[in-house]
Amino acid sequence: MSELLFNVKNLCKSFHLHGRVIPVLKGLNLAAEARQTHVIIGRSGTGKSTLLGLLAGLDRPTSGTIELEGAALETRSNEALAMLRRQKIGIIFQSFNLLPSWTAVENVEAVVMHSKTSPAERRKKAVALLEELGLGDRLHNLPVELSVGQQQRVAVARTLVNEPRIILADEPTGDVDPELGLEIIQRLVAPVRATGATLIIATHGSFPLEYADHVWELKDGVLASAKVRSGFL
Ligand SMILES: Nc1ncnc2c1ncn2[C@@H]1O[C@H](COP(=O)(O)OP(=O)(O)OP(=O)(O)O)[C@@H](O)[C@H]1O
Ligand SMILES: [Mg+2]
Repeated sequence: MSELLFNVKNLCKSFHLHGRVIPVLKGLNLAAEARQTHVIIGRSGTGKSTLLGLLAGLDRPTSGTIELEGAALETRSNEALAMLRRQKIGIIFQSFNLLPSWTAVENVEAVVMHSKTSPAERRKKAVALLEELGLGDRLHNLPVELSVGQQQRVAVARTLVNEPRIILADEPTGDVDPELGLEIIQRLVAPVRATGATLIIATHGSFPLEYADHVWELKDGVLASAKVRSGFL
């Protein structure tokens, strides 16, 4: 049975910069079903990261509504939104947001620190994920000692370790080679297929269509179902 996870209506977002208004999202609609992989494509600067930030409740719309499981996001307090993220939403930021003085494995563990998982279990889970993503020999390196693609994989592991019901991934394969990119996509899609999580992934690069349930194109401030050909987008 299909069930709407996000129902976004007439979403507008403008930024104010040096006295100028920059309209980015201009009446965007999105009905994203739960337990699916949604891919948002679009040229650089079209507003993909802006949209993901709004879906995560990290930023507020200029106007329009975002419902998550039937309840409006925009009326909730910042504290309620932070709680929602802790409980349900895993975000992979385009800029990774790793803690610079913490090692790879500590960065991954950090997210589960406040859960009931024991320190030993936490370490085991973090190590297993990093090994799975090919970073078994980089566990104790600081972000500055890692390549950009390796940092990206730490960010992916950090999100997956919490097993979130909703994964928002902003260019999660932007800095790795195609082979590793495919491994990351397969790892992100796995919870959708295995446990019914929902994945929303933004990319200005290519994406293997066999892993996408829906492809949306962000253009001129609105989303449209993308014309899908076979193979890679
Ligand atoms: N805080 C901000 N202040 C002013 N302008 C902003 C801000 N954040 C984003 N923008 C502008 O909004 C537009 C959309 O940016 P956004 O980062 O969402 O694009 P994107 O589609 O994610 O691009 P990319 O593919 O390069 O990651 C850009 O023109 C950007 O300059
Ligand atoms: Mg972006």
